[in-house]
This record gives sequence, structure tokens and C-alpha cells, in this order.
Amino acid sequence: MCGIVGYIGDQEAYPILIKGLHRLEYRGYDSAGISLINNKGELNVYKAKGKVSALEKSVEGKDISGTIGIAHTRWATHGEPNTTNAHPHFSQSKNLSLVHNGIIENYKPLRTELEKNGMTFCSETDTEVLVQLVEFMMVSHKCDLYNAVQLALKNVVGAYAIAILEKSHPDQIVCARKGSPLIIGVGKDKTSGRPEFYIGSDATPIIEYTNQVIYLNDEEIAIMNRAGLLDITNLSNVKQTPQLVTLQMNLDQLEKGGYPHFMLKEIWEQPDALRTCIRGRIDKAEKDVLLSGIIDHRDKFINCRRIIICACGTSWHSALIGKYFIEEACQIPVEVEYASEFRYRNPVIHPDDIVIAVSQSGETADTLAAIQLAKEKGAFLYGICNVIGSSIPRATHSGTYLHVGPEIGVASTKAFTGQVITLCLLGLAIAKEKKTLSNEMFHMLVDELQQIPDKIQWTLENNKNIDQFAQMFTYCKNFIYLGRGYNYPVALEGALKLKEISYIHAEGYPAAEMKHGPIALIDEEMPVVVIAPKHGMYEKVVSNIQEIKSRKGKIISVITEDDTVVKNMSDYSFVIPDTRDCFVPLLAVIPLQLLSYYVAIAKGRNVDQPRNLAKSVTVE
Ligand code: AGP
Ligand code: GLU
Repeated sequence: MCGIVGYIGDQEAYPILIKGLHRLEYRGYDSAGISLINNKGELNVYKAKGKVSALEKSVEGKDISGTIGIAHTRWATHGEPNTTNAHPHFSQSKNLSLVHNGIIENYKPLRTELEKNGMTFCSETDTEVLVQLVEFMMVSHKCDLYNAVQLALKNVVGAYAIAILEKSHPDQIVCARKGSPLIIGVGKDKTSGRPEFYIGSDATPIIEYTNQVIYLNDEEIAIMNRAGLLDITNLSNVKQTPQLVTLQMNLDQLEKGGYPHFMLKEIWEQPDALRTCIRGRIDKAEKDVLLSGIIDHRDKFINCRRIIICACGTSWHSALIGKYFIEEACQIPVEVEYASEFRYRNPVIHPDDIVIAVSQSGETADTLAAIQLAKEKGAFLYGICNVIGSSIPRATHSGTYLHVGPEIGVASTKAFTGQVITLCLLGLAIAKEKKTLSNEMFHMLVDELQQIPDKIQWTLENNKNIDQFAQMFTYCKNFIYLGRGYNYPVALEGALKLKEISYIHAEGYPAAEMKHGPIALIDEEMPVVVIAPKHGMYEKVVSNIQEIKSRKGKIISVITEDDTVVKNMSDYSFVIPDTRDCFVPLLAVIPLQLLSYYVAIAKGRNVDQPRNLAKSVTVE
């Protein structure tokens, strides 16, 4: 949620900050704002409700000069999305401006206390309390900004990534983090060769200028200035040694590459992205799986008595497929938990449990909190994430990156298939160590898994007319998605995709559960998407389809390419090639991603930035 950008150096800050906001807009688009100090030493703040483009319009003709600035794109938590609540927020004297990502949980008592001390507030946000508190500390303790931030943050409960400008010190930016991500880019001006610093909620606004970054850790405060000084301390004022990391990302990955939307690009990118995900992890010649995250902790995995997977949303769906696969292949019990529930229970966790966090962003606040709880209880933590250097990989003992490239569309697509493949690789690697699969079965599964990218390509090529078909469903108010076994999580994922971007209500069910209640919903108005590959429970799913047809429901099926039986029973069918039962989700989800995309397009929705959603949910 929310994106922060900052710059200090010799260049004009405005273009860098606006470009950065556009790159971060996927994290929130309720409002946008920018703060710059010009060469007369004036601190200007401009804000607008809505997207970054609205901010750009609103600053036309205004003074946007300055070589130091901070900016923000908001996903509102406290206070409605309007201009007053937009960031940056001024302190009372207008000497400070601050941007914030996160939630200050104790903002109410802090605000009451500050009001008693004569401070007045303009907005309803928790963030304004923070900037006022910092100013209050500066005045009451007669200290500089850096120390005031330290003092203020000691009184704060909650999560924050912040960046602050001080009018009376126009040559420095102070930033800090706890719970929400913040990265500092370290660069050199191309003409003057002098040092410059960038700040970003993630690497996307920074990569164009430098690939040298520092990931700020929790409870660290940094100060950077034009002379090239970068000091980092923790809340107790202990100096920290910054670790420079080289980013592995290129600019092309952040562009749409000719596609109208990131989501469509990311759907079509899946064959290549998954080839990269598999690369180096499957030895083609030997038909073997090599996962260093497992090899380095072999005994943990051999002796573990249970695996708990914590995740949210789409990542929770891939985790469910992972559970089915790992239980079948490794004979280890696996529980899948909503991270948001798990963190507030008192779950039983043993030291010989392995807790896996699955997260595209690696920043989801609930998932991060869930693994922190598991860590306190002594579990071994494994992360399956996409964003390199994000908080979850840094908080876990070991893990595997998806390597599917940056996912910008809010609706997750290639990260889902990347997570499923990675969980299957994990299951295969453990099965190999535990010898729970015969050699023949192991090699067959490895062989089949490496053919999945080609089979996804086939699925994409052979379902090209989904766009025309989708037009017919724009009038629908509800959809039902059904699947059994490995395809039940695919039904959940298909329904989530449709809800997220078309705003049509959709539910995913295990097909056999229909008769226990949901079948009452079926009438001629109800489209029912059934995932019915020729596998395991095929005959049973065919019966489920009959039950729906008898009640005049419209059948949209996902079928194996040569299946004429279900094809003839269906109003419309999407075809997938044959594969092993356990890998069907990787193919069956493709037409469902395309269906949700084209229904949303036909309804005129903004698929990359659906209402009320943000890509990285870094608040509770
Ligand atoms: C997916 O389409 C959603 N936008 C959402 O459910 C997402 O999967 C969830 O918020 C978890 O995010 P993560 O994978 O980054 O942790
Ligand atoms: N809590 C702050 C607000 O509502 C920041 C939210 C965010 O992280 O986007 O303004």
C-alpha cells in the first residue's frame, strides 16, 4: 500500500519523483502528492485526489523547481481519499513535510496529547500525527530533525516507512522504517559526478538511475545529504553499517512492452517467466531437481513433522495446491493458513515444524507478522517470494525466489503460476531426500513439469477468442467456479480474478459441495465455470455438470483438448493440453485469467488498477 519516492542531488527532482510515482502507482492510487524545496529555500507541497496524472495537472503553472523532494501515492487507511488527507503532510510551523506508508496504531492518544500542547490538525490521517510529533520533539527537546525522529518513533506503535524534508535544512532527507519497506538508492550525478540519493518503497523508481541500493531494516533511521553523507542508526542511536546490494532488474521489465495492460502482458509472459523460474532448478539431462534452499537445510526437511504455509489472497490459493502436492509426494502433513488469522491465534508450533510464507511482494504485512510469530515459537522459516530483497526473504531462514520478473498488474497472474511451480519443485526436492516417490515417478513428474511452459504457450495460443466470448457475460451479476481436487484452488483463483477486476460477484466451490447449498443459486442467469480435465474425478465432475444443466445453469468448461463429451454438454469450452493431474492447475488457470481480463475490459474497468485494491498490502 502506498508508494514513497525521494531524491536529493544535482538534478531537478520533480521529473524523477513523478516518474517514480507512476512506477509505484500500482501500490495505491487514492491520491498523490509531492514536496520540493526550491533554491530560495521555500518548501512547497502539492497534492491531488486520484491518480498521479491528476497531480501533474494540478501543478501546471506552479513552482516545481528544486533538487530535493519527496512524493507519495496513497492507499488510504485513515481518512477518506481527498486532497486534505493526501500526503505529504506539513507540521504545524510548515518547517517539515512528511510522507508515510503504514499505520500509526496509537495515533489517537498521540493526537490528543499533541492537541493539549496546542497543536492543531488539518487532516483525519494517522500520518499527520507523526509529522506533528516530530516537530513537537524538535521544539520540546531542542534537538535536530534526526534526533527528533528517533524520539518520536520511540513513542509510536504501528508500521511506518517515512521520508521527511526540513525547510531550514534544505540539504538533507531523513527517512526511517518499521514494518513497511524502504530502499535507498546510491548514485552519482552523470554530469557533475557528485553523489545523489534516491528513496523508494521498492526498486522500481530507482533502477533507472542506479542499481546500488541499501535495504533499510526495521527501526533504522537514515540521514542523507548533498555532500554524500549517509548515516544509519537504530532507534537506540547505535550506528549501523549500510550493506550495498546490486539490484538484479532491468528497465524493460517495468514497461508494458506493446500490451495495453500489464495484466495481459504478464499473462502472456508466463511461458518465458516460468522457464526462468525453472532454469537451474531442473537438471534436464538427469531429470533431477536442485533447490539450494533445501539442499542447505536437508535435515530440517527430512525430519520435519509438519509444514504450515501462511499466505494471503492468490498466494493462499497457490499454497493450497502446494499442500495437495507436498502431502501426496512427501507424505508430510501440510496446513494452509490465512496469515491474517494465523497471526492472531495462538497456534501450536513445534521446533520441528517448517513454516513457509508464500508472497509475491514479500511485503504483505499479515504474512510477515505470521512468520514473525512462528519464529518466536521456534519454527524453521522458508520464504517463497518474487520480489528480491523484500522483507519476507530477509526474515526467513531459507527460501526460493520465483524469478518470474516484476509483477505490476494488481491482479496476480504469473506470480501465481510461479508459486505453484516453485511449491511443486519444493515438494519434489523433499520427496527426493525422503525417498517418498519411486525413481520412475520422480523422473516422470520432473520431466512433465519442465514441459509446462510450452503447454501454457499452447493454451494461450488455442484460447484466443476468449475476448469475443467474454462480451456475452458483462451483464452477469454472479458467477460460480467449480473444481475438484487440485482444481478446487483453481476455482477459487478464477473467482478471485473475476471479482478483483470486473467487480462481478463470483464464488469458487469444490464441485461436490454444490449440492449442500449453493445449487440453490443456479438458474438460467447463472454462468458456472467448471474445471473438468480428463483426470481423477472426471466422471464425478461430469455428474456435477449434469446437475447444473438440469437446473438450466450455463456451463463454461475448461476441458482436455480432445474431450468431446464435456464439450457437448457445455455452452462454451476452453481447451488445455493433457498433463499430470497435479499440474493441471498451471494450465487450467490460464483461460480463467484471460476470461477475467476480457470481461473486465468489456465492462470498461481499469484492470491494472482496480478500485480499492493495491498491489502490496503492507498494512493490516
Ligand atoms: C491477487 O490478485 C491479489 N491482488 C491479492 O490477493 C494478493 O495475492 C495478496 O494480497 C497477497 O499478496 P502477496 O502475494 O504479495 O503476499
Ligand atoms: N495511514 C496512512 C494514510 O491513511 C498511510 C497509508 C498508506 O500506507 O498508504 O494516509
